[in-house]
Amino acid sequence: MPAQAMNFTGSFKIISNPSSSDLARLDRVCFHRPWEPSAFHSLLQTPTVWAWMLADEERSVGFICCQQTSQEAEVLRIGIIPEAGGKGLGRKLMSAMLEHIAAAGIKKVFLEVREGNTPARRLYEGCGFRQIGHRARYYNDPREDAIAYQWLRQETEI
Ligand SMILES: CC(C)(COP(=O)(O)OP(=O)(O)OC[C@H]1O[C@@H](n2cnc3c(N)ncnc32)[C@H](O)[C@@H]1OP(=O)(O)O)[C@@H](O)C(=O)NCCC(=O)NCCS
Repeated sequence: MPAQAMNFTGSFKIISNPSSSDLARLDRVCFHRPWEPSAFHSLLQTPTVWAWMLADEERSVGFICCQQTSQEAEVLRIGIIPEAGGKGLGRKLMSAMLEHIAAAGIKKVFLEVREGNTPARRLYEGCGFRQIGHRARYYNDPREDAIAYQWLRQETEI
């Protein structure tokens, strides 16, 4: 189906057990520097990793991979296919993952992002991540600084 004919307002669901080939396929569409399929294969073998896909009956539109490290977690990768971008799907996926992480008792989530990745930085800041660091020339190909973000679980007072 051509991109302009696709309807992205439908109800996409989170698939909590995607295959490594589904993830690798989405990764190739979302990223200029995709991971090797074997990286997703390894991730799915790791018990501390949560890897989710966003899909309806017809198509998959995005994915997120997070890893728990003791009492904290890290967002390793998030992607929404370009033709479905800017429609709130990244926010939906990240919010659901943060809820899941909070429900698991984890209080802090970290991630790093290229300084110039405006869509991702707006997504993270909109989801409650706060900038905690700046790492000069952290990324290669092309060389770019990294911004480190942290999300803290809201504590409810009674
Ligand atoms: C980053 C990414 C996941 C965002 O997903 P998305 O579904 O487009 O995001 P949403 O529609 O939920 O929007 C989230 C925020 O990003 C902003 N945004 C989305 N696309 C944007 C664009 N092209 N330019 C500027 N801002 C953009 C939205 O306006 C929104 O911010 P707001 O709440 O302040 O208005 C998606 O752009 C993507 O997959 N990028 C390529 C892969 C990548 O860089 N991943 C992150 C590094 S691991």
